[in-house]
Formats: sequence, C-alpha cells, structure tokens
Amino acid sequence: MRKTKVALAGSGFIAHIHMESYMRFIPDAEIVAVFSRNEANVAAFASQYNIPAYFTDYDTMLNETDCDVVDICLPNFLHHQATLKAAKKGLHVIIEKPLCITLAEADEMIAACKKANVLLMYAEELCFAPKYERVRTLVTDENAVGKIYMLKNSEKHSGPHSDWFYDVSQSGGGVLMDMGCHAIAWMRWVLGGNPKIKSVSATMQSVLHTHRSKGEDNTVVVIEFEDNVIGVAEDSWARHGGMDDKIEVYGDAGVAYADLFQGNSALTYSLNGYGYVAEKAGDSKGWSFTMFEEVFNQGYPHELMHFIDCVRNGKTPLVTGEDGRAVLEVIYAAYASAGTGKKIHLPFTSDVEVPVDLWLQEGIKRRKAKL
Ligand SMILES: NC(=O)c1ccc[n+]([C@@H]2O[C@H](COP(=O)([O-])OP(=O)(O)OC[C@H]3O[C@@H](n4cnc5c(N)ncnc54)[C@H](O)[C@@H]3O)[C@@H](O)[C@H]2O)c1
Repeated sequence: MRKTKVALAGSGFIAHIHMESYMRFIPDAEIVAVFSRNEANVAAFASQYNIPAYFTDYDTMLNETDCDVVDICLPNFLHHQATLKAAKKGLHVIIEKPLCITLAEADEMIAACKKANVLLMYAEELCFAPKYERVRTLVTDENAVGKIYMLKNSEKHSGPHSDWFYDVSQSGGGVLMDMGCHAIAWMRWVLGGNPKIKSVSATMQSVLHTHRSKGEDNTVVVIEFEDNVIGVAEDSWARHGGMDDKIEVYGDAGVAYADLFQGNSALTYSLNGYGYVAEKAGDSKGWSFTMFEEVFNQGYPHELMHFIDCVRNGKTPLVTGEDGRAVLEVIYAAYASAGTGKKIHLPFTSDVEVPVDLWLQEGIKRRKAKL
C-alpha cells in the first residue's frame, strides 16, 4: 500500500514535534510539502526534514500538492480558514488544539468536513500519552480506584515561546485557551469520551505577563460532570521551573497519580550546564529535571499514528472536531464564570469575538485569517 501523503501547515514549535513523530515512528506517512509564511524559515525546515516542496502561500500548497492530509500547526486564529480550505479540496484534516477561536467557527469546520466527507481529528495528545493512557485503562477497564469522584489535571510553565499566544486577537485567550483545553479533553476522555457536563466555575488572574497580554495567565476551573464527578483543571503560564503536567484520579477505592515531566525525568546537578533540559526549562546549571523521549512520552507519535491509521483504514478518530467543540464550550463557560462570578450551566454559547471577552468583558476585535 502506498504511503499516506501529508502536507504540513506551519514550521514552528509544534510542527517540529509532528515531524519528529512522523519521521521516527510513522513509516506509513510521507511528508510531501510544508507551508509557512517566512521563506527562509520554511526552506530551512524543508531542508532539515528532506521535505520535497515548500510554499509561502497556503492556497498554492493546496493547489499544487498531491496529498491526502493536511496537518495544521498554525496559530489558533488561522485554524478555521485553514480547515475550510483543506476540506474544500477533499483533504483529511488533523488540527492542533484549540480547535479554533469561536464556537461558530467550530460548527463551520465540523460541517465543512462532514460535507466533504473528510476526517477532522482534534489533536489532543494527552488522550494518547502512554503514562496517562495506562492510568485511564487502570481506572476505567480495570476498576483500580473504584467509582471515580474527582479528576485533576494541571499543566504549568512560565509562558509560551511566540508573540501571537499573548495577542488575544490571535489566540482567543490566555492559558485557558492554550493549556486548559488539554485538561478538559483529557477529563472527557477518561469519563468515556462524551460525558454530560452540568456546570463550570472558574477563577483566573494575570500574574506574570500583564505587560504583554490582556489574557489570563493563571486559572482554576471546576467542572461538575454528570454522575457526581468533579473535574479540576489548574493551568498556568506564571509558574517558573519548566514544563509541569500532572494528573490525579480519585475513586472510592483508590487513587492514581501520574506526572509526565518532572516526576518522569532524570534529576541532574550540573556546575557547567549542559544541552537540552526540557520544554521551557530555562537554565541547566544547578539542579534540573532532565527529560528523555519528550515527544514520545507526551503521546504525539501515538496521536499521529492513530490519525494516519484512520485515514488509511476509514476509521473514525477517537478525538474529533465535535470533541474540540465540546472543549471550547467549556472554555467559553469558564471565561463567563470568571467574568460574572457565577457558576455557568451548560449548554452555553455566546457571540463574543474571542472567548476571553467573556472574562474581560471589553470586546476585543478578532484578527481575521490571512492565509
Ligand atoms: N498539542 C500541544 O501541546 C501544542 C503545543 C504547542 C502548540 N500547539 C498548537 O499548535 C499551533 C501552533 O503553535 P506553535 O507553538 O507551533 O506556534 P509557533 O509560533 O511556534 O509556530 C507557528 C507557525 O505558524 C506560522 N504563522 C504564524 N503566524 C502566521 C500567519 N499570520 N500566517 C501564516 N503563518 C503564520 C509561523 O511562521 C510558524 O511556522 C497552535 O494552535 C498551538 O496552540 C499545541
């Protein structure tokens, strides 16, 4: 069987992670083209990974490339247009998180992919991270902790690497859009994929990045699921010391904890400093948590391998555009809760330009896609 041909949109941080995953772990996929707006960057990226074609115009890539799939690794505000254009060309789409900026965009993306009869996979790697998957099978298939009554996820570092994350007209919001989405998707996955959510409460603040962003950089979200389960998501761009991602599952017969980064690393003391420590880790002098197989441990190869298998064998992805929309709905509700000081009951929608408006209540104009 021929390889599945992938066109990659974006050549930044996550695009490198996807490339490592494809090249090391997914022999059934072949990356045939890459698009990014900066010619020097995209040419260097193509050369680094031996990708035969590169483009600085997305439409030209779609028009001139023979491919089956578009893998979208662009800033959040471009997800909607990039997906609609790929679907129009009859191409399957895997889209990085968050699904898009607004619920209206989410609905259009889902409808466009359905109409074109192409897959839309929501790339949530925590649903594939091997350690978290072991915990999920423990607490679901093997009844290790009894009846689950509370789930927690926390993901924290000291702030993203690119300016667009801090511009809420391009990102839609702060750390809740960027990392809270992981917690919500992971909790839904542990609770069977599509659990009913009764209400969302949240509180948030700006701590470290007030000079460069209107978005929040520290959040706590409490989700009341059906069947008396509480979900707690703590997400921060205000925590120094490198990437931290942990889960806790509490049941009436036990508890399970898992730590993807610091509790998973080699503990190193170095007077001289050394090469790479871990995502957003900063200095390597003194004590550091040295990560190994960072991309593998987070589940990216498993996520992309699953998608390529779905494309090749006509399967439905286990995380879909509908899941991405459900996550976005909780994000809207969390911003609305933090903005009003009230518990928000689902279903919830709003016609705000960007989700963080529901917290800021000041009507930020959305950056329109220029693709
Ligand atoms: N799954 C995860 O854990 C994870 C981690 C990081 C990022 N992401 C997601 O991946 C997406 C990309 O994030 P990133 O960290 O790679 O960002 P990045 O800034 O590192 O890279 C963004 C890429 O998009 C291109 N780009 C930026 N603005 C553009 C524009 N106006 N027009 C065309 N191209 C443009 C850049 O040139 C670059 O190639 C985001 O949606 C982000 O939320 C997911």
